[in-house]
Amino acid sequence: MEKLQSTILTESKNHKIPFQRIYLKGSLLAGTARGMAREVIEVLKGAKRYPPPIWMMRQAGRYLPEYRQTREKAGSFLDLCYNPELAVEVTLQPIRRFGFDAAILFSDILVVPHALGRDLRFEEGRGPLMTPIGADEIAGLADVDIHGAMAPVYETVRRLREELSGETTLLGFCGAPWTVATYMIAGHGTPDQAPARLFFYKHRDAMEALLDRLAVVSAEYLVRQIEAGADAVQIFDSWSGVLDEAGFETCCVRPVCKIVSLVRAQFPDVPIIGFPKGAGTLYENYRGQTGVDALGLDWSVPLSQAKRLQAEGAVQGNLDPMRLVAGGRALDEGIDRILGALGDGPLIFNLGHGITPETPIAHVEQMIARVRAVR
Ligand code: CP3
Repeated sequence: MEKLQSTILTESKNHKIPFQRIYLKGSLLAGTARGMAREVIEVLKGAKRYPPPIWMMRQAGRYLPEYRQTREKAGSFLDLCYNPELAVEVTLQPIRRFGFDAAILFSDILVVPHALGRDLRFEEGRGPLMTPIGADEIAGLADVDIHGAMAPVYETVRRLREELSGETTLLGFCGAPWTVATYMIAGHGTPDQAPARLFFYKHRDAMEALLDRLAVVSAEYLVRQIEAGADAVQIFDSWSGVLDEAGFETCCVRPVCKIVSLVRAQFPDVPIIGFPKGAGTLYENYRGQTGVDALGLDWSVPLSQAKRLQAEGAVQGNLDPMRLVAGGRALDEGIDRILGALGDGPLIFNLGHGITPETPIAHVEQMIARVRAVR
């Protein structure tokens, strides 16, 4: 075993394997890694680990040739999300290739409104497309049971927990009600979610009812993911940066707080990561107000602010995904600044938002090697 370990270390120095951990159960080397069980969970609970554990938002995706291949086999993107065999495969692809410390369930935040009966399709180059929901349709969402439609997703989580070694954290996730609602209302992505903001101002009661319904089903959805084997969960609020202060309080903080308390009531010890992208100075109170354990930081958060937020608990982030596209000095500099500012506290290294399809794989390897080189 020792010999095998040293072989891996040597190879990793030559960048053949830019990491030193073994992730899949049944592997000859399982458990020989850093000798730490689920570092991501320990950090989420406030422990410091150096070098920090690392994963990437959207780590399974189009920048990987093996993802593109499986996606083609699946047919549509949604078919991929609802096919446990293929969803497990694409979730594991970045783990096999890079050895991230966490695997994130392969699915999408919009499967929740889809399971609520809203139509959804993904078009190449256009992203998600839905029929915009009207204020008078919201009450009708109350009676829909989502769990039948979600059964394949829970099965994917169950199989993933079986496949992954004990050291690799399995993350479940959902979209935050506000971000999910923006797509339900506009029917597609927009630059600033003006349709959803307008809907909030014009149909306040309907909006609050929609957010509340989404909060309840999202909490149930996370609970089922945890029951199926997710070790921690992340709530993606990718569009929380477009609201004013009062709107942020009503549309982002309140529904996420509801999700957290509903999940906590059943699983008090499972860490919850909140990612209120673009929240700016409103990041300051988010952890206290919502009750999330850890904060996902987007790349616009200054490291001085990140350091303050880290004094209260774990932070995750926040490399600009464009530094990863650029590679070279821009990438090294971005990594070093984050490690320099946040490396001596509870940190999970990540991007400040999802990896983009044009990112060269070699740059991902460069990032992992640099983050893990500091030991
Ligand atoms: O992180 C992961 O690897 C897990 C899988 C995951 C996907 N989407 C797969 C996906 C996760 C966690 C998401 C979250 C998601 N989906 C968010 C929140 C995070 C964020 O990125 O802001 C949002 C807003 C969505 C909605 C969504 N899904 C959009 C706007 C798009 C189109 C943009 C794009 O990249 O194409 C998607 C599609 C999508 N979701 C893809 C993937 C891999 C690409 C679809 C494809 O393969 O063609």
